[in-house]
Amino acid sequence: MNKILVLGATGNIGGLTVERLSKNDVSRLRLATSREAGLASLSERFPDAETVLADWHDEASLTQAMQGVSRILVVTPDFVTDENVVTPNIIRAAKSVGSIEQIVRLIAIPPGLTAEKLTPRFLDTRCGANLHVIAKPLLDASGLPVTYINVPGWIMFNLPWFLAPEVKVRRRLVMPAVTDANRMWISEVDIADVAALLLTTPASEHIGKEYILTASERFNYPAIAGLLSDELGEEVQYVDDDGPLRDAMGESFDVLMTYFEHETQAYDGVEHSETVARLLGRPQITVRDYIKENCELFK
Ligand SMILES: NC(=O)c1ccc[n+]([C@@H]2O[C@H](COP(=O)([O-])OP(=O)(O)OC[C@H]3O[C@@H](n4cnc5c(N)ncnc54)[C@H](OP(=O)(O)O)[C@@H]3O)[C@@H](O)[C@H]2O)c1
Repeated sequence: MNKILVLGATGNIGGLTVERLSKNDVSRLRLATSREAGLASLSERFPDAETVLADWHDEASLTQAMQGVSRILVVTPDFVTDENVVTPNIIRAAKSVGSIEQIVRLIAIPPGLTAEKLTPRFLDTRCGANLHVIAKPLLDASGLPVTYINVPGWIMFNLPWFLAPEVKVRRRLVMPAVTDANRMWISEVDIADVAALLLTTPASEHIGKEYILTASERFNYPAIAGLLSDELGEEVQYVDDDGPLRDAMGESFDVLMTYFEHETQAYDGVEHSETVARLLGRPQITVRDYIKENCELFK
């Protein structure tokens, strides 16, 4: 049976998806990283899986990595990805090997948003939808068999990533108020479970489909602080300050703030559908479930 290639296997979603896939049939997996150090960490985490160096700025390395591959997962990182370079390279490589039955691509596009509706100021952030509105039309036009996982909300790993440190030390959820919105939050566990399912059930069931993963409830920062207070048994106060985010994001802080000017409005019109529960046959993970499960990260 042909291989499943994961481009972005060292990443958050990529790695969690590989964890699931490796429980199924590790011999089918080929895990890609663009860095030598990535090879070592992949081998440590997934000792029985094949690993490969592939840089999506280098089409030849992609073509090499795609030999004998039928299915591919692509997750591109925010801020640094030029989709006008990366996605055409992936498309050309996939066409040249001729064996690709499915490309599963993670995107985050509020329904109806296109690159034409975004100004260069936002597109240049290369963050969130500003990446994916470039990649999707290229993939759509390629004629390749593509399945999209669209996550037009926040992934719950943002909580431990840039909110937990202040919660831990000072029982404060600190974010600039201008970045607040009533957001849908989707667990990375649900996304990875969906990705693994799409890559291991018949590709023909999923080609040309866009699975939009949403949440039944929306939460702003004070509401998240309320959930944290409930689970920790101590008050967590929401504080309007940009210091911790500035520290966490470093050089990307200003770009992120520009991105937020659009993102805080962009997902307002997203409607919930039970896609996660329908695909996975189990209830979707809520923010409360997530905080309960990962309580130690906030203590
Ligand atoms: N945060 C949110 O709330 C949210 C919400 C919705 C959607 N999203 C989307 O989620 C995506 C980020 O997911 P994530 O956090 O799982 O990503 P991530 O952890 O940043 O992983 C990105 C992967 O890209 C790989 N990569 C980087 N440069 C590469 C290159 N030149 N060639 C080949 N591979 C390369 C990295 O591997 P190596 O460095 O090892 O090569 C890494 O495995 C973004 O597209 C974002 O828009 C995020």
